[in-house]
This record gives sequence, structure tokens and C-alpha cells, in this order.
Amino acid sequence: MDETPVAAPLAPDWPALRGLMPSNVRIGTAVNGQALATNARYRAVLTSDFNAVTAENAMKWGQLQPTRDTYVWRASDDLVAFAQENGLAMYGHTLVWHHSVPPWVSESWSAEELRELLKQYITTVVSRYRGKIWAWDVVNEVLDEDGSLRDTIWLRKLGPDYIADAFRWAHAADPDARLFINDYGAEGRTGKADGLLRLIRKLRATGVPIHGVGFQGHLQWDKQPVDVAGNLQRFADLGIPVAITELDVRIQLPMTPEKLARQAMLYEHMLAACLAVSTCESFTLWGFTDASSWIPHNYPGYGAACLFDTDIRPKLAHSALVRALREGRPGAAGG
Ligand code: G3I
Repeated sequence: MDETPVAAPLAPDWPALRGLMPSNVRIGTAVNGQALATNARYRAVLTSDFNAVTAENAMKWGQLQPTRDTYVWRASDDLVAFAQENGLAMYGHTLVWHHSVPPWVSESWSAEELRELLKQYITTVVSRYRGKIWAWDVVNEVLDEDGSLRDTIWLRKLGPDYIADAFRWAHAADPDARLFINDYGAEGRTGKADGLLRLIRKLRATGVPIHGVGFQGHLQWDKQPVDVAGNLQRFADLGIPVAITELDVRIQLPMTPEKLARQAMLYEHMLAACLAVSTCESFTLWGFTDASSWIPHNYPGYGAACLFDTDIRPKLAHSALVRALREGRPGAAGG
């Protein structure tokens, strides 16, 4: 059933971001499966403002394979079909993430068994969508804050080579998909960013098929990461494309005009950083409306993190991006 309030007109009456972006940079958003299925206004704004989508949850291992013998493809297939029908590029998220390992996977299993399981899973999912996904987050959040490898079931049981293996398995299943490593807290010059750079250098030196690095960008209204453009450029200088993959800017409630203005500035700052790097391939938001953002559940006291409000009306941050794109030079990329 469609829950769209009758009063809300469906057709957006503001300039669409996708029409203003440079043609070589996609503008994407994570998609909330329930909103997509039930809210016509959500679908209208999604398809008018964006040209790429990421499944917020539908392609996570725990969702796709709830038991060892069962795959549940419905939500994921529906999103891929929606993307195809509406000319949206589909970004796959995510194959290996410690947070989404299904509960039936046991660390007491042997390394051989776990390795085979991971290989099977990656091969099954990537093969199913072969030719339909332009890029995959192959490994997500594999680094700790200090830049060392995160202590996960995969590191403990399979050792550090699980990362290279995951890329090779994904590449074998879809040789045309672009394969990304993705992380948070590496947008600016941090210890994690340094570690990410070292890891990518190592992977590339050994011929691992890794084609991009995703910077999530879960930001807070009053904290600007240090030198995002310069940091992204360090990665681009290795010859590896970059992307902003999960941008949102949470605000400590109550919302005020000043906080919304700071939020707008941060959105613009991140866009500027992406556009300053010639190989930045996409600029993706972690949801576009405050009506279905993950923030209030995970950061009590915070919210209003998206470009659109709870009625799916554009906020100041949206007009800031529109203005910046129209002027051809989004705000200061430095600092
Ligand atoms: O699937 C159940 C559903 O059956 C149940 O009715 C509902 C009740 O709350 O819970 C549902 O699962 C939740 C799921 O979101 C779907 O809403 C999980 O409990 C909840 O943990 C899950 O949170 C997601 C989180 O990743 C963990 O997978 C967030 O929506 C999603 O925004 C967040 O996204 C991550 C990226 O994948 C990786 N980077 C960080 C980003 C933010 O944490």
C-alpha cells in the first residue's frame, strides 16, 4: 500500500542534482527498501535527483542468506530491477563486512570451511548480478582507527590474505564490475587513511584486482574532516579512482538555522573535494530523506542528517549543492 500523503505533490519542483553533476561523476543515494516499496514521492525524488543507487541493507550477507541453505533474493532483486527500469547505476554493498556476517556462521568452523563459505557466498552473489552492478564494495571497514587491520572473524581465521582473495573471487565472478574497498573515518588525513593508503599500495603491488576506494563520509555538523581533497588526491595519485560512498551530516537536535547552514557547508565541502579529484567517480549519500535515515536509531539525540527533510522537501544543503554546481565551483575544497 502506498503511504504517500495526498497533499504532497509527486513531481519535484526544484532543480535536479543529477542534471547538474559533471557527466563523469555519478550522484547516488542509499535506498531504504521499505520507503521504495511504499512511498511514491520517495520514488519520484529518487529518480529525479539521482542517477545511482546503493542498497542500504538489501544486499548484506545476513539479509541475503538468513540460513545456510536459504538465499532470499527478493529485496535485492527488486532494487536491481528498479534501478534497471529507471536508468540508475547500481552500486553493490557489501560483500565482506564483519557486521553483516549471518549468525549461523560459526568461528568454531575450520579455516578451510570458512574460506570456502566466503568464496561460495561472494561467487554466488556477484555471479547473480553479473553485468547489472557497476561497482561492488568488496570489503567494508576492514581497518581499525589506527590503520591496522581490524580484528574480525576473517582476519582471525583466514589471516590478512582474505582481503586479496575476496577481490580475486569477486573479479572472477564479474570481470567487468569495478571493485572497491570502503571505509569510514578515512575522508580526511587520519591514521586510518594512512593505513588504507598502505593497504592499497600493497594490494596493487601484488596484482590484486582493486579498482576504487570508497570514503563513506558519515559526518557530524560541527566536525570537518581535515583536508579531504588533499587526502583523496593521495589515493588518486596511486592511480586508483575514489568515491564518496555514504555521505550524511548528522545534527545534534534541536535543529537550528545555524546548524543547518553548517551542515550545508559540509555537504558542499565534500562535493568540492570529490570534484577536485579528476578520478572521483561518484558522490553518494547515505539516504536522501530524514524520513528514513539510520541516524536517529544509532545516534540518540541526533538526526536531520540528509539533504531532504521528513516530508521529502529539499533543505538548505540541497540548494547549496545546486548553487555550487550551477556556479561550476563548489565551495572551498581545502582545509
Ligand atoms: O531486518 C530487521 C527487520 O526485520 C526488523 O523489523 C527491524 C526492527 O528494527 O530491524 C531490521 O534490521 C535492521 C536493519 O537496519 C534494517 O532496518 C537492523 O536491526 C539494523 O542494525 C540495520 O542497520 C543498518 C546498519 O547498517 C547495519 O546493517 C542501517 O540501516 C544502515 O544504514 C547501516 O549502514 C551502514 C553501512 O552498511 C556501512 N557503513 C556504515 C553504515 C551506517 O552504519
